[in-house]
Amino acid sequence: MFEIRPLSNALGAEIIGLDLSQPLDDATFSTVHAAHLEHMVLVFRDQQLTPEQHILFSRRFGDLSGHVFDQFLLPGYPEILKVSNKKRDDGEFAGLPQAGRRWHSDLSYTATPSLGSLLYALEIPPEGGDTLFNNMYRAYETLPESTKVRLEGRKAEYLLGSARKYYTAEERPPLTPEQLAKVPPAHHPVVRTHPETGRKALYVSHSHTVRILDMDEAESEALLAELTEHSVQPEFVYRHKWRLRDLVFWDNRCCMHIAEPPPPEYGRHMHRTTVVGDRPY
Ligand code: OGA
Ligand code: MN
Repeated sequence: MFEIRPLSNALGAEIIGLDLSQPLDDATFSTVHAAHLEHMVLVFRDQQLTPEQHILFSRRFGDLSGHVFDQFLLPGYPEILKVSNKKRDDGEFAGLPQAGRRWHSDLSYTATPSLGSLLYALEIPPEGGDTLFNNMYRAYETLPESTKVRLEGRKAEYLLGSARKYYTAEERPPLTPEQLAKVPPAHHPVVRTHPETGRKALYVSHSHTVRILDMDEAESEALLAELTEHSVQPEFVYRHKWRLRDLVFWDNRCCMHIAEPPPPEYGRHMHRTTVVGDRPY
């Protein structure tokens, strides 16, 4: 048997003693699935996974997507995105650097955003490089009633941070014109209903939400800033300090995350799979 231990009051639990390199039987899978819905972020410790095993476990939750930064897909494994601050011998990035320096939910800029992402730590720095996660159910539930009313039925426009020119070329390669053409803006509700739990969660982020539709621009700017600030207050956040061979599986439908860059002298190298989700409603 394995253990499930909550990691904070906000969200997150660690799973100790479960080997994901082997197929899970249906009973074990449903326990893991239920834990994921309850805790939103699961940290599976001490995993020894080949790319195939990482992909097979991820697929239990749904179809996997590639990524617009196709130069960082693992050769032979288009389901795996390399996230890395390392450079190759030829000076090119070894993976997507600065994977998420602003709060965001993965693929929220696409028409059918991600259900969840599974990030596997192959090399970690001795310090720094934490990933923070927040609880967007709680962010929604604790809004003033007047703000909830203001957000009711509202939609927003979402666009990839790179398309918004948030990063310098040193930090992240710019999108090619072909890549840019693949990520037109998407429209989603500002408050979404989680398709499995039925709970409402806030769904706007600093990185990917451009504007609230049908709202005066200044008002939209101010409201988005207010919502972000409210969403990431410390009581709603879990800070993950990576251990080597952690596999972290987060729910993109009810959390945001942000990556803190490690000191540049240390390498950090991860593999990510991304499970496709539903169109938000
Ligand atoms: C991601 C991401 C976080 C990190 O892979 O989706 O945002 O800590 N990365 O590298
Ligand atoms: Mn991300």
